[in-house]
Amino acid sequence: MIANKTDAKIVINALKNGGVPKEFIEDIIIGRDMEISEFKRNLNNLNDGIGNIKIILGNYGTGKTFLLNALKNIALKDDFVVSFLQIDRAFRLNKLDDFYYYIMHNLFVKNNDGLTSFDNIFDIWIDNLKNAPDKMESTNEINKVIKTMQKYNDTFARALLNYIRSKIKNDYEMTEVISSWLSGEKNISYEMKTKFNVIGSINKSNMLDFLKAFSKLVDLLGYKGFVIVIDEIDLLLNERSDIRKNAYENLKYLIDLIVAADLTKTMLLLSGTKEIIENEEKGFRSNIALSQRLGNAIDSYEFGIGNIKESIIMLKDIKITDYLEITDKIVNIYKYAYDIHIKTTSESLKNWVLYTYNKNGKNIHELKVREFITRLITILDQVDENHIYNSNLEFKMSGDRPIFKNVLSKSN
Ligand SMILES: Nc1ncnc2c1ncn2[C@@H]1O[C@H](COP(=O)(O)OP(=O)(O)OP(=O)(O)O)[C@@H](O)[C@H]1O
Ligand SMILES: [Mg+2]
Repeated sequence: MIANKTDAKIVINALKNGGVPKEFIEDIIIGRDMEISEFKRNLNNLNDGIGNIKIILGNYGTGKTFLLNALKNIALKDDFVVSFLQIDRAFRLNKLDDFYYYIMHNLFVKNNDGLTSFDNIFDIWIDNLKNAPDKMESTNEINKVIKTMQKYNDTFARALLNYIRSKIKNDYEMTEVISSWLSGEKNISYEMKTKFNVIGSINKSNMLDFLKAFSKLVDLLGYKGFVIVIDEIDLLLNERSDIRKNAYENLKYLIDLIVAADLTKTMLLLSGTKEIIENEEKGFRSNIALSQRLGNAIDSYEFGIGNIKESIIMLKDIKITDYLEITDKIVNIYKYAYDIHIKTTSESLKNWVLYTYNKNGKNIHELKVREFITRLITILDQVDENHIYNSNLEFKMSGDRPIFKNVLSKSN
């Protein structure tokens, strides 16, 4: 719940600029019930050890990033660990060791404001070990974890054991160095590394073992599973072809690991515009092995609703009938943020947005939620000076044609 004016202003400002507010997603979300319940089903599957791949496609401004954030919050609340990434200049999925580094540097867990670190993931577990009445029990627990980690990678297990020891001893310096090594940091001196009994660093060949070990660790530490989110996947289309090809190969590896449950209780959630599928030359279809892994979904996502359980789903535009709800929510936040009195009803304000959009010669059935919201806030900013918005505007559809009626002027 938004509980102070500064937060309210921050939310309005993010929305006004077409962005997704960092917090308070729950206070503004409309629609998406179906996607959310499907995601909850996916999380339940994870709990049973069944890995999932989900790709959410949608046009610009339909609410992909917003939805990913809403899903992220749901997963966190339910005790999953989430790594939230987006393709950008630095992170392009083309190098496996970089991929591991970015996953580990974009982690989130419950009850931790904002980004957490590898370190925070252990907090509760270590506290429990320290406070256990029976020391033997703690030792057994640690041994069990380390033994399991050895099956994945010896070096990882060794570093982890030293990490747990220094964490229990409150050796902060050592804890920090080892945790950054375990999270893929390469710039750690040789002398330092000998102190925790490792050489080398994370590279292409051991990265997949490290990732497997990490997903298992998440499970052993008591979390329900691990969700890796990658937004703006379509930006790969603009990359050099060698970079793109490597990125698709890596995605393919990742999918294989997930479906074979080599990554423990892990879900991969991707999002981008549908170009990533439709562009035959540069999209997923350009890598036959990758598109085969996505199976029938690659041809059937357009049907969206009926196939919400498919691995590829098409995000539909928010329905015109849902815009009243978001108008209400935003108007209330706006009034609270700026202490202003707005006489016009939400219904009328919503109709004014539709009216301005329609007046620009655009089809209101193509209106995207981003454009709706930015137009609404522009109108709210002007409501004081521009009295036209204070008059009551009615709206109805006549067949395909929108009809607006300004009740004061009685004109169409
Ligand atoms: N379901 C929703 N309920 C309320 N507001 C939403 C919803 N979906 C999106 N928004 C808002 O609409 C705007 C656009 O959403 P978002 O940035 O998620 O779109 P996008 O599909 O990721 O766009 P792009 O293609 O540019 O990345 C944001 O201000 C966001 O907060
Ligand atoms: Mg986006």
